[in-house]
Amino acid sequence: MTVPSLTLNDGNSIPQLGFGVFQVPPNETAATVTSALEAGYRHIDTAQMYGNEKGVGEAIAGSGIARDELFVTTKLNNPHHRPDDVRRSFDESLTSLGLDHVDLFLIHWPLPTQYDGDFVSTWQAVAELTGDGRAKSVGVSNFEPDHLERIITETGVLPAVNQIEVHPLFGNEEARAAGAERGVLTEAWSPIGQGTVLDNAVIGEIAARLGKTPAQVTLRWHIERGDIIFPKSMHPERMKENFEIFDFTLSPDDVAAISALDKGAEGRIGPDPKVFDRV
Ligand SMILES: NC(=O)c1ccc[n+]([C@@H]2O[C@H](COP(=O)([O-])OP(=O)(O)OC[C@H]3O[C@@H](n4cnc5c(N)ncnc54)[C@H](OP(=O)(O)O)[C@@H]3O)[C@@H](O)[C@H]2O)c1
Repeated sequence: MTVPSLTLNDGNSIPQLGFGVFQVPPNETAATVTSALEAGYRHIDTAQMYGNEKGVGEAIAGSGIARDELFVTTKLNNPHHRPDDVRRSFDESLTSLGLDHVDLFLIHWPLPTQYDGDFVSTWQAVAELTGDGRAKSVGVSNFEPDHLERIITETGVLPAVNQIEVHPLFGNEEARAAGAERGVLTEAWSPIGQGTVLDNAVIGEIAARLGKTPAQVTLRWHIERGDIIFPKSMHPERMKENFEIFDFTLSPDDVAAISALDKGAEGRIGPDPKVFDRV
C-alpha cells in the first residue's frame, strides 16, 4: 500500500496516514511502534504529555529505516507555554526521542483560560523553532477558529496543521472550515472515536456492502475528506487493518451518509478546547 502525501502550507509534505501513540504505555511503546513500522507506517504522532517519546525513539533507532523516510510529530506539554519553557521543553522532547529534528511540532492545547490567555507568545516561540531546522514544520492542536485567527493575525505565521477531534459522531466542521479557509490542514484525532463508531449501523452497512471493516470505512471517510489521520492500536492485526485503506474508495453518497452522523458538541469524546485548562 502506498500512503498518499499531502503538501503543507510551508512546502513540506506529510503522509496522510500515520500511527498515534496516545495511551500506549511507556514500557510497551518501543515494541508497539516497532510493530507499526513493520506494518508499513512511516508517520508517528506522539506528545510529551503521553510520556512515551523515549519508546518512539527506541523503535525508530532500532528499525534501520532512514530518518528521511519517517515523519515524526511531537507536542508541547501544557505546563510549558511560556516562551523560555517552550525552548527548554522542545530540547527535552528531542533528547527523549533521540532525534536531531522533528518533522512537526505542535502546541498541544491553546489553554485560553491560562497564561493570561496568551497563546500568541507561545506560538511565536514555537514558530521560531523552525529557524535552525530542528522543527521542520510547526502547527497547533485543539485550536478553535478564534484561536487560529488570533495567532495568524498577531504573528503573521500560519500553522501547518490544526490537530483536532474529528470522527463521524463529531465532525468539528467549523474548526475544519476555519483551517481550510487559511490553508491549514486538519489532522483528525481519535479518527475512529476511540472505537465508539465501529458498531454504528450506517457505517456497518457500508462496510458489509464493500467487504471492508467498519474501521477501514471510517478511516477511508477521513481520507476522502482530505484530513490527516493516525489511528492508534496495540494490536498488530488491527494496525494492518487500519493501514489497508488505499485499495478502495467511498462514493460521494457514502461519504455524505457518514458525515450526516455528526451529533455536534454532543458527539465530543475529549474536552472542549474553549474551557480545557489542565496544566
Ligand atoms: N491532540 C490531541 O489532543 C489528541 C487527543 C487524542 C488523540 N490524539 C492523537 O490521535 C491518535 C488517535 O486517537 P485515539 O488513540 O484517541 O483514538 P482512535 O485511534 O480513534 O482509537 C483507538 C482505539 O480504537 C481501538 N482500535 C484501533 N483500531 C481498531 C480496529 N481496527 N478495530 C477495533 N478497534 C480498534 C484501539 O484499541 P487497541 O489499542 O486495543 O487495538 C483503541 O482503543 C492518538 O493516538 C494521538 O496520537 C491527539
